[in-house]
Amino acid sequence: MQESGTSRQVFSAPRSEYSRSLHADVPALNPDRYRSQRSTGDLGVSAREPRTHIEVRNVSKRFRVGSTDVAALDGVSFSVERGSTHALVGESGSGKTTAARLLLGLEHPDSGEILVSGEAVHGRSRAGLRDVRRHLQLVYQNPFTSLDPTWRVHRIVSEPLDRFRIGDRAERARLVREAVDLVGLPDNVLARRPTHLSGGQRQRVAIARALVIRPDVVVLDEPTSALDVSVQAGILELLSRLQRELGLTYLIVSHDLALVRQFADTVTVLQRGRVVEDGRVEQIFTQPKHAYTLALLDAIPRVDTGPIRHIPVPALVRT
Ligand SMILES: Nc1ncnc2c1ncn2[C@@H]1O[C@H](COP(=O)(O)OP(=O)(O)OP(=O)(O)O)[C@@H](O)[C@H]1O
Ligand SMILES: [Mg+2]
Repeated sequence: MQESGTSRQVFSAPRSEYSRSLHADVPALNPDRYRSQRSTGDLGVSAREPRTHIEVRNVSKRFRVGSTDVAALDGVSFSVERGSTHALVGESGSGKTTAARLLLGLEHPDSGEILVSGEAVHGRSRAGLRDVRRHLQLVYQNPFTSLDPTWRVHRIVSEPLDRFRIGDRAERARLVREAVDLVGLPDNVLARRPTHLSGGQRQRVAIARALVIRPDVVVLDEPTSALDVSVQAGILELLSRLQRELGLTYLIVSHDLALVRQFADTVTVLQRGRVVEDGRVEQIFTQPKHAYTLALLDAIPRVDTGPIRHIPVPALVRT
């Protein structure tokens, strides 16, 4: 046992080292954790590249389910600067994953267009789509289900190299070792299967697999929701470092607004497939304009250390 007491005591004045580190790892309790190391959009980014990296213009997508038509996205627009992190937030079914899948070229929009580095993702030949896809990679939500349990780590990380026919055998082996090293895993994981790795190690393997072909956009769909807070903090720290070192642009989908506040630069709030509001994280979190955004922000857990009282949301989110 490290510590015990009333929850108010333990949360407001943790005494043990372990409680203090847990406190530091919970996004809601430590909003500025990654701020100092967050990319400003200038780091590792060449001045020759256009600043706008991703542009989603007036995109709509409907799905037919039985006899009903669902508008998963309805006239959605947003743009993301090179080297920055953009978050999509909104309740379940608001269209976040659909937007991510459209960006990755896994779905086709009914109307509108998506540009990456000024080039349209859709309406290309197969070879053209491959060229775009080469720059875009996805890290799935759950590393317990996204990695084939029968494959060894070496094969998992190598798979995108095989798919894009990059390098010969020796070159692939070198790139795989480099990617595994980049995410802070030792060489000896290469011969292991995912079932012999912890959740955090598995998510590192998934990140290594995404980075092995050196994409410049990484889509993170709830990348840490299957992990506990301390492991989550380690993964977020890793992602921040990789962004800085490699000049990556991130599109992150998350239910966790406290995490978005910590990790993202800009945010789009979606509700039933429509953009409710968007802007810089500091602005949306301190001066939300829409009641829906306020309701989402109000759901961020917090520790109330004073007497029970009602605090208006915009004041709270600054604390
Ligand atoms: N392939 C599909 N076929 C039919 N309907 C779909 C399909 N994909 C998404 N939808 C519908 O489109 C809407 C948006 O779904 P989407 O998965 O984008 O939401 P989300 O914001 O990612 O939700 P969650 O937070 O639960 O992951 C939902 O109503 C969903 O049921
Ligand atoms: Mg989703």
